[in-house]
Amino acid sequence: ASGTLRDTLRRPLRDLRISVTDRCNFRCSYCMPKEVFDKNYPYLPHASLLSFEEITRLARQFVAHGVQKVRLTGGEPLLRKNIEILIGQLAQLRTAQGQPLDITLTTNGSLLARKARALKDAGLQRVTVSLDGLDDAVFRGMNDVDFPVADVLRGIDAARDAGLGPIKVNMVVKRGTNDHEILPMARHFKGTGIVLRFIEYMDVGATNGWRMDEVLPSADVVQRISAQLPLVPLAHTAPGETAQRWAYADGSGEIGVISSVTQAFCGSCNRARLSTEGQLYLCLFASQGHDLRSLLRGNASDADIASAIGHIWQGRTDRYSELRSTLAPDTGDGKRRVEMSYIGG
Ligand code: GTP
Ligand code: 5AD
Ligand code: SF4
Ligand code: SF4
Repeated sequence: ASGTLRDTLRRPLRDLRISVTDRCNFRCSYCMPKEVFDKNYPYLPHASLLSFEEITRLARQFVAHGVQKVRLTGGEPLLRKNIEILIGQLAQLRTAQGQPLDITLTTNGSLLARKARALKDAGLQRVTVSLDGLDDAVFRGMNDVDFPVADVLRGIDAARDAGLGPIKVNMVVKRGTNDHEILPMARHFKGTGIVLRFIEYMDVGATNGWRMDEVLPSADVVQRISAQLPLVPLAHTAPGETAQRWAYADGSGEIGVISSVTQAFCGSCNRARLSTEGQLYLCLFASQGHDLRSLLRGNASDADIASAIGHIWQGRTDRYSELRSTLAPDTGDGKRRVEMSYIGG
């Protein structure tokens, strides 16, 4: 690939998010509500999953098109057997500038205490851990499988001890459910070097029963924290960054807010998503992907695959979050949005 690949809105491709499993051991109501994701839910059969070799082969073509950051997601990525083998393969890839990739992983932290060391040894650079509160009862309720908060905190410690950093912690805020945990979370992580980020509850997928009145705007989050622990705004670091960054005025670190509902950031969206079965999605809110697995399992050459990816990206028009308020409750065309557990966070 020569020159920078751009989509119809002139956005480059920089960030590839790879979902390695559609399964999870948690049932967060905003993502995999128990009533829907029960024992009858049609999870992907093993033969549908891309193998590690297939994922790495695709990733190489994405990197040739300018991808610099790869994030492994799910579902819960640490449930995928031998994930460190995939990390080892991805760690061999080099960007067009000859740099190693930024390889990171989003996890619920439940298996991190056990796996942090092996992940680091395989070549993982950092992790982002999802954690929606410090109060044990609140947290057990949000993960809806009665998982204790202490185990996730132990996972975060293990990640830090293994040198997986800088560590980020993501908290999805639901008004009336865990918004009273904002300040305790801020206080807990202040001064630790761990960057806490507050995510606006989003209408992703078609099963979480999203309502606007359960969204707490990021501006309110910042105001609530700043009233107790003064904050000053920071400049963006990376182009296309999802989070707005704020520093504690006393110099004890920073937080971030991800405001996909109240302040859409589609204008600089440089992310592509590869599903567990090899469908390429160009937006978190898409209802349709592009089948790359059939290219892999047909007799397409690397050049064929690279060319297909290029054409797909060049045709990209997605900017769902910017259009949200103008669309009907479903995607507007009656199609069902894909689930986040399938496409990756
Ligand atoms: P780093 O800051 O480099 O670690 O990556 P990141 O900002 O992409 O962070 P992360 O992958 O942890 O994403 C945080 C959350 O932001 C995700 O879990 C989503 O909830 C949300 N998010 C990420 N990318 C998008 C996007 O393209 N669109 C929307 N609407 N939300 C996104
Ligand atoms: N709204 C906002 N964030 C969500 N996540 C999952 N579902 C939603 C949603 N509906 C977040 C998780 C995790 C990442 C994988 O995506 O909390 O941090
Ligand atoms: Fe699992 Fe993460 Fe979804 Fe919660 S948000 S159900 S931990 S994939
Ligand atoms: Fe990118 Fe779609 Fe998210 Fe907008 S809504 S930032 S286009 S993934």
